[in-house]
Amino acid sequence: MKTRHVNGIELALADRGEGMPVVFVHGFPLDHTMWNAQIDALAGQYRVIAPDLRGFGRSGVTEAAVTMEQFADDLAALLDAMEVSEPIALCGLSMGGYIALAFQRKYKSRLRGLILCDTRAAGDTPEMVAARHEMADRVSAEGPAPLVDAMGPKLFARATVENRPEVVESLRRVMLSTDRRGIAAAARGMARRPDVTGGLSEIDCPTLVVVGESDVLSTPEEMSTIARAIPGARFVEIAESGHMSPMENPLEFNAALLDFLAAL
Ligand code: MLT
Repeated sequence: MKTRHVNGIELALADRGEGMPVVFVHGFPLDHTMWNAQIDALAGQYRVIAPDLRGFGRSGVTEAAVTMEQFADDLAALLDAMEVSEPIALCGLSMGGYIALAFQRKYKSRLRGLILCDTRAAGDTPEMVAARHEMADRVSAEGPAPLVDAMGPKLFARATVENRPEVVESLRRVMLSTDRRGIAAAARGMARRPDVTGGLSEIDCPTLVVVGESDVLSTPEEMSTIARAIPGARFVEIAESGHMSPMENPLEFNAALLDFLAAL
């Protein structure tokens, strides 16, 4: 894996292929390997860049709350460090989607296309904010296990759990190996994120909205509302998938993604 020093921290990243840059932003509390099937499928046609965010995977860790804007700033600085000045396609899942939306607000001239996967535009309710801080405290004291126990059952469709247990197990291993300080910092940062629903109608780059048909964390209903709010956005539901649609049904997910990218 490559590394780049940006914004005072070492970021690790996968960087493969040539052509229009497609940047993949992972969810919480994961790392770039959740995109392995997309990296393999796209690297023959595109330059695929998939970083481990600050606090995750093999990247450096900072302890203060990391806002979605800070993560977006890290992405912009990473592109600068790699001398990527042409507009990118940016694809984020869940927390990665919050970050993609923050990037869109701040760096819209750098975007050629936006792919929002299994994510939300709404901010957290006061109860969700309190739960995030409580979980951040627990993870800081005990490590990732309580978070993995709480999130694990909500991530996958029944079909994935029954037919592809190795996918469930690989993600569990990634979550359990994530630095507790990185998890706490991102959880506190997500609790601070604004409700960006009102800004969706101002997104003016081609946008694809993708959701697993059985996603219980960012439901198809919520995602279709996001798609309807973004002018001209495409909406695709992925069969036999929950929250982790790119891992659960990579064939269908990649087909939708490649089709969208080809039209940019
Ligand atoms: C994720 O998958 O990134 C999380 O579900 C995001 C969140 O906790 O809001």
